[in-house]
Order: sequence, then structure tokens, then C-alpha cells
Amino acid sequence: MPFEEVMAQANRLLVGAQALGALTARLRLDELGVEGDPAVRAELDRVVAALGLADDVAALDPAERSVVLSFARSYLAQALDLVAEPARAGAWGFDDPVLLQAQGSASAVVARLLDAAELVPPVARVLDVGTGVAGLAIALCQTFPGVTVVGVDPWEPALAIARENVAAAGVEERVTLVASTIEELEDEEGFDVAWLPSFFIPEPALDGAIARLHALLRPGGTLVVGATYGADEDPVAAAVDDLFTVRAGGSVVPPHAMIERLVAASFSDVREVERTWDAPLRLVAAGRG
Ligand SMILES: C[S@@+](CC[C@H](N)C(=O)[O-])C[C@H]1O[C@@H](n2cnc3c(N)ncnc32)[C@H](O)[C@@H]1O
Repeated sequence: MPFEEVMAQANRLLVGAQALGALTARLRLDELGVEGDPAVRAELDRVVAALGLADDVAALDPAERSVVLSFARSYLAQALDLVAEPARAGAWGFDDPVLLQAQGSASAVVARLLDAAELVPPVARVLDVGTGVAGLAIALCQTFPGVTVVGVDPWEPALAIARENVAAAGVEERVTLVASTIEELEDEEGFDVAWLPSFFIPEPALDGAIARLHALLRPGGTLVVGATYGADEDPVAAAVDDLFTVRAGGSVVPPHAMIERLVAASFSDVREVERTWDAPLRLVAAGRG
């Protein structure tokens, strides 16, 4: 009975989707500083309590809440976009400011990971590939007081927001935004560190991007690549993870495959960075000999 089977599975999945919506909405009430409708608020609280998160949600500071909210809002928006346009090819074609801002805030966590892994020298010129709304570029300035950042991205709707964000953060002197793909980026000065989020770069562009980064890095510089997480034992989780990566125009490259590609591109000391964080992200670092 296919209908009953599909409906039963849809119902099971619906609980997770609705619970994520409820958690996100509850966090939004706190972010907005409003009570909201008492009846709805009570039900939101009930869902959060049933998830076992009542105390934890209440204890989040604004920055932590913003990271969780950004993550959830971005993926909820991408899921709705997938349903609205299931025939569209994979591309980073999003111009919804909420989604773009959310993705930028979520990216900011990368600065913490680079810090934890000690991959950025105290004084450095850093290249942020796929800079988007400059969430990571700004976080890099805040985390590493001695760095300047060049953010490169061809997507004008995101860059327009990036310019505002950079000004609002007061880091115009330290962040340069360039409207270009990484493959076509021209730069005379060279970089000490480059960040390449492979899960946002289309597969056909990836080898060109890696070759270009080899040329743009200074001798002794470091390329840090965000590789596909790929650690999930659950086949549904692994499949939806890759689906969302490809749909957003990115490549699915696990760390071992990325290491092979970087070695082939003449990088030295290519290794996976030891993961000391919970975020579902794996990093591969490579030296420009
Ligand atoms: C999810 S966004 C990155 C978010 C960003 N870190 C932030 O803080 O807002 C991914 C970005 O990669 C960009 N991108 C895709 N292909 C690219 C390429 N070949 N070169 C440079 N940027 C690219 C997209 O335009 C998109 O803005």
C-alpha cells in the first residue's frame, strides 16, 4: 500500500520539521524581545521543553542564539526553495536577505575553528573565498586583530549586503570586497592564508579555484579547505546533506579526496586538521611550499 507507506513516513518526518520550526520561532521571540501571542508561546515552550532544551535555550547568550537561529533559518529557507523550484539546477542563486545574512552569521564560526587550529599567523593577509555577506570576513577581523581580509564573490546581491555589514562593523579599512570568481581573481600582493569552502564552489570550478589559490598564496602560506562533513552513518542524513550542498551550487568532496586533489595541485604538507569542535565541518590544510 504505497500511499499508506509514504504518508506514514511523511508523518514521521513532519515531527522533526515542525519541531525545528518551533525551536526557531521560540528563539526568534527572544531575539525580537517580544512575548508574542500567549497561547502560541505556551505551545512553543512546550515543544522546546519536550525536546529537553528548555534550560539550555534560556541560557543562550545573544551571540550563541544568533548562530543557532542563522543555521536553522538558512536551512529552513533552502528547504522551502527546493520545494518551490525542484527542477532548478544547483546554484547559489539566493537573494533573500534573511537567508544570506543567516548564512553569513553561520559562516562566522569558521573564524573560531581557524583560531582553535592555530592556522592564522598574528599578522596576515587573508583571502576569504565566497565571502557572501562578509560574515566570516568580519569575524576574521574580530578574532585576529592583526589581519586584513580580501573577500571575493561574484554574487552581487550578497556583496551589496556585505558592503553594509563591513561598514556597520567598522572594518572598512581592513576588508576589501572584490566582485569576481576565485578562478578569475587578479591580485599582486599575495596571501598568507586562504579559506576555500569547497561545499559552496561548483565542482566544474573547483580545480581551477585550487590552481588559482596556489598561484595567489605567498610562499609559506596556508590554504584551508572546508571539506564535506561525510561522517554521518545515517544514509538519509548523508543523502540530504549532499543534496543541500549540490543544490546550493557546491561540491561534495570528502577530506581524503580533497587531500588527493591538493597534492595533485602541488601543495605540500597536506593534512586533515584534527577536529576539536562539534560543528559538522572538516578542514584540510595545505602549505604553499
Ligand atoms: C554560503 S555563501 C558564503 C557565506 C559567507 N562566508 C558569508 O560570511 O556570508 C557561498 C558563496 O560562495 C560564492 N561562490 C560560489 N562560487 C564561487 C566562485 N567560483 N568564486 C567565488 N565565490 C563563489 C557564492 O556566490 C556565495 O555567495
